[in-house]
Amino acid sequence: MRIGVIHYRSTPPWSVQDLIRAIEELGHTPVYIRIQEMDAEIRDEEIRVYARKNPVELDSAIIRSLGLTPSLELFFKRIGVIEALEHHIPIINSSKSIIDTRDKWRSLLKLMINGVRVPTTIVTENPFVAKDFIEKTGKAVFKPLIGSLGLGSTLIEDPDIAYHISRSLLSLRLPSYFQEYIEKPGFDLRIFVVGGRVIGAMKRVISEGWKTNIAQGAHGIKITEKEYPDEFETAIKTAEILGLEYTGVDIIIDKKTGNHYVIEANAFPLWRGLKEATGIDPAKSIISYLIEKTRR
Ligand SMILES: Nc1ncnc2c1ncn2[C@@H]1O[C@H](COP(=O)(O)OP(=O)(O)O)[C@@H](O)[C@H]1O
Ligand SMILES: [Mg+2]
Repeated sequence: MRIGVIHYRSTPPWSVQDLIRAIEELGHTPVYIRIQEMDAEIRDEEIRVYARKNPVELDSAIIRSLGLTPSLELFFKRIGVIEALEHHIPIINSSKSIIDTRDKWRSLLKLMINGVRVPTTIVTENPFVAKDFIEKTGKAVFKPLIGSLGLGSTLIEDPDIAYHISRSLLSLRLPSYFQEYIEKPGFDLRIFVVGGRVIGAMKRVISEGWKTNIAQGAHGIKITEKEYPDEFETAIKTAEILGLEYTGVDIIIDKKTGNHYVIEANAFPLWRGLKEATGIDPAKSIISYLIEKTRR
């Protein structure tokens, strides 16, 4: 089987290299393709997809990135090319699920509508609404609507700071996204779901600060379904609602009430920290799932 791995970088990053390794170990042929080098064409009532002007000949594919903050037009061009390819072969994650989880607000909205508990959250273009939110909610987290690795998220307690941030963002034509701050027990959970099954999970523990991303210096400790049955169930439900065939679901537990909340589900999750903490081989699980899906 020829399995495509799609990213934008000229040098494949670690996760892509790990997938390539897994594809080879499973006896198949990896094909690395850069998203910006892909084109799609409609001609003679057929849909054709090219990479560097050559027809793309794959049995299935996995998308790892559509590029760093491309313009809306480029985003839709890239998604459109993936949709064209999806017409011929199975692709994970699907273009629809990538669109649905592209920004944090729409993911949370969809989860809430389908019965998953999410924190009190607001999305706005109005600095006064941002200010009111902090006055009413108290301590809150500002996050980039589209972002990852904990980068750019800021803790806010002062309504005027919220106003200031929101106004500054507006001058850059950007919206604001604020969420109530939930007091965590020193860690959050990263639960990795592949094909509707949890393949591995960890606590991300921090000694200082409040962001538990591995990229922010947290360290992972393996957890089991027996310890966190409800959270495992929520992670599976989250993946299903968002249509993500492989995903890392972030769940925080309220120290006071014990309630758990989904804060995001990643369509392009990283797994190096999870692999180290648990000893599992996420790349192999993902590729095995894709192969099985392709054979079906
Ligand atoms: N509402 C919140 N309350 C407390 N901590 C939070 C909250 N939202 C995020 N965090 C912390 O910040 C980290 C990053 O937030 P997340 O929403 O997962 O964005 P990112 O895409 O940057 O990973 C989380 O892993 C968590 O530790
Ligand atoms: Mg996260």
